Amino acid sequence: MNILFLSTAHNSLSQRAYVELTDLGHNIYVQIASSEQAMVDSVKLYNPDLIIAPFLKRYIPESIWSNYTCIIIHPGIIGDRGPSSLDWAVLNGESEWGVTLLQANDMLDGGDIWASHNFTMKDVSKSHLYRHQVTEAAIKCLLETIDRYESGNFNPKKLDYNHNDVKGKEHRPMKQKYRSIDWSEATDVIAKKIRSADSQPGLLDSIYGESFYLYGLHEEDTLKGNPGEIIGERNGALCRATGDGAVWITHLKKKSQGNHKYFKLPAAQVLGDKVNNIPHLPIEADVKGRTFRDIWYEENNKVGYLHFNFYNGAMSTTQCIRLRDAFIKARERDTNVIVLMGGSDFWSNGIHLNVIEGADNPADESWKNINAINDLIKEIILTDTHLIISAMRGNAAAGGVILALAADKVFAQNGVVLNPHYKNMGLYGSEYWTYLLPKRVGMKKSIELTDQCIPVSTKAAKKIGLIDDMFDGLNFKDKIIEIAEELALSPHYKSKLKEKQIKRIEDEKIKPLEFYRKEELVKMFDNFYGSDKSYHIARKRFVYNISCLDELPKEVL
Ligand code: COA
Repeated sequence: MNILFLSTAHNSLSQRAYVELTDLGHNIYVQIASSEQAMVDSVKLYNPDLIIAPFLKRYIPESIWSNYTCIIIHPGIIGDRGPSSLDWAVLNGESEWGVTLLQANDMLDGGDIWASHNFTMKDVSKSHLYRHQVTEAAIKCLLETIDRYESGNFNPKKLDYNHNDVKGKEHRPMKQKYRSIDWSEATDVIAKKIRSADSQPGLLDSIYGESFYLYGLHEEDTLKGNPGEIIGERNGALCRATGDGAVWITHLKKKSQGNHKYFKLPAAQVLGDKVNNIPHLPIEADVKGRTFRDIWYEENNKVGYLHFNFYNGAMSTTQCIRLRDAFIKARERDTNVIVLMGGSDFWSNGIHLNVIEGADNPADESWKNINAINDLIKEIILTDTHLIISAMRGNAAAGGVILALAADKVFAQNGVVLNPHYKNMGLYGSEYWTYLLPKRVGMKKSIELTDQCIPVSTKAAKKIGLIDDMFDGLNFKDKIIEIAEELALSPHYKSKLKEKQIKRIEDEKIKPLEFYRKEELVKMFDNFYGSDKSYHIARKRFVYNISCLDELPKEVL
């Protein structure tokens, strides 16, 4: 079928829907619904068989829904209506939530129901819920809906609040005042409030008399203080006392004043001098209970597992350096295999564009960040003492995808979306991609992937050799442990390691690793310091969330 997506942004859900339906052989056209006219024009242009709205913040005009079947993906259970569905579900501590696919009509979220699936809620942020449970349920609903639509004999169900199954209701749009924090409240109450607003818009609160949005919550089980007091700093995150314990906040955004715009940055960086005297609290190796850590290591049966759970998958210069140090330390252990675990939300999205934008000299910081991520990747490539596995549980983009390819084996959780390209950010790219990508998919495919800038599903990635295999989310971790242990304890381990060492020596003879880096960095230097400002403009648009259709305000230039 020819399917048109009308979407406010081609976000993670829209990209996942795109790759799933493309894999099934459908033609997908994506229209960013920037205005009613843009939607009307795109429908005229594509005359689709079906319209899907994966993530739409506007009404579909009647001239469209009265002539075409338009399916809205709504992140709520049957009967749930209105904006802020997930905000309310997290804040209210719902034990079960769901996704419903509705046919657009004149009643917001009140159209006939094509499919719905529920899931068990977890104590996670709204955005984590959206990127995982909501996305999985939405894709299940979408595939059912497509089947039902193609069958031509399915009648979607009318929404009937008298029906026992209809548990949802219409709710008001969420406002900051409904979740404002009193710091003498218990940790779990505060945690719910902050998670209900993460990653957008963030929970508005006051720190040292100024207004900030809070993000990136982690409960703390050991530290205590006077409610509201900032009692510690760790790797850019701040620990703040609650009524019965404390929480960590990893990121803050200053509230805009007048035309001045701000963006999310590590919390300690935003508060600057104000937290100079706050005690720095490095993580204890044998820490018990919940706390904040973005890098940690576990070991079992000759396998080391290196976790790096960076907010939004973005890796700043210091995070890359810390991860490289942790990798080198893991390599010194008496193990045979190291598994790079990434984070539960994202695998990696490459260099940290927000931290770069927030630096005094973004070009210099870009240069430092790309070199730091390159240094990390170089260590992985040059490891001749261990076999390395990348275990991707979340989406990855740009240098983040290439980071995974530095390992000997690459596995991904079913449904992960990969964007192995840099062009949209105005970058040539580094991270040894000119070595690692063609090695896996060949030169022709490498050019196609990096030029066309389209998202790749795990299924397509496996087909072209970008990854080795994919496994279901439910048993992904167990499967990775099984594979890693089997490899580490295998009688063939030594010969496999030897094979790897020989291959690296051969590759080095063909072209030294440093040559790839040098060639890439010549182009990146130009991207950062040259007269073409595409990267700086694309980065500003990305960080300040300004669409290409709008002019960049002078305040951000
Ligand atoms: N640096 C800083 N923040 C980043 C980031 C990066 N490299 N990559 C993603 N993020 C943030 C986004 O700003 C967004 O933040 P928010 O939710 O707090 O507003 C969040 O991660 C999720 O990204 P989003 O764009 O909403 O997800 P998506 O699934 O719709 O799109 C991508 C995914 C990967 C296509 C898009 O995030 C992207 O283009 N990222 C930049 C990749 C890049 O160019 N890296 C640098 C070169 S190595």
